[in-house]
Amino acid sequence: MKIDILTLFPNMFTNFLNESIMKRAINKALVEVNIIDFRSFSTLNNNQVDDTPYGGGGGMVLRCEPLVSAIEHYKTPDSLVILLTPQGKTYTEKMAYELKEVKHLILVCGHYEGFDERIRNFVDLEISIGDYILTGGEIPAMVITDSITRLIDGVIKEESYQNESFNNNLLDYPTYTKPADFRGLKVPEVLLSGNHEQINKWRKEMQLKNTQDKRNDLLK
Ligand SMILES: C[S@@+](CC[C@H](N)C(=O)[O-])C[C@H]1O[C@@H](n2cnc3c(N)ncnc32)[C@H](O)[C@@H]1O
Repeated sequence: MKIDILTLFPNMFTNFLNESIMKRAINKALVEVNIIDFRSFSTLNNNQVDDTPYGGGGGMVLRCEPLVSAIEHYKTPDSLVILLTPQGKTYTEKMAYELKEVKHLILVCGHYEGFDERIRNFVDLEISIGDYILTGGEIPAMVITDSITRLIDGVIKEESYQNESFNNNLLDYPTYTKPADFRGLKVPEVLLSGNHEQINKWRKEMQLKNTQDKRNDLLK
């Protein structure tokens, strides 16, 4: 799978792509991630990419030309172009599973006040990572890249994400590690029993209880 990220701030991705699971997935060629500074597609003096809004008001607006030129340069028949915007469809784990099947994603990061409205005509999908405003699309691009990459075969063990929160609309069961007693807080006996049938039963019950207690909306 290939993910191209169009951004004005490529350095923001340096640590993200060079640590832990993302780094291993890239080194094993399970995913290819390219960070593209779309400023290089500007044809204006000083590589200008933004301008003041028509009608007045604060902030700078990303111009159409550099972004659309970059999209058209990298787009192929296999591509899905995604605009990161708080006005998009709210991102979920289900969408991560769907996007994992796409061969080539192009993630477009806005910044400043946002982008010229006409850019919307050149993308396939708009995604928001939640109802709050960030300074740019870079963190949303990382969120999407990370959540998809960990689902790609060979990146992490399948059993690691099979029971995870949001699979089958359930939250995960509680997990514990050593010591068995921490300041009087004890690990549930069943987990120390070695009886895997009982452990699986307990975990399923806890998934349901956790979901009822914390995210009842998922069960509707
Ligand atoms: C300050 S925001 C612009 C917000 C825009 N004026 C609005 O109210 O819809 C700058 C950029 O950050 C990104 N962004 C901010 N919040 C986001 C969110 N919740 N999800 C996805 N992208 C977001 C978008 O790319 C956006 O163009």
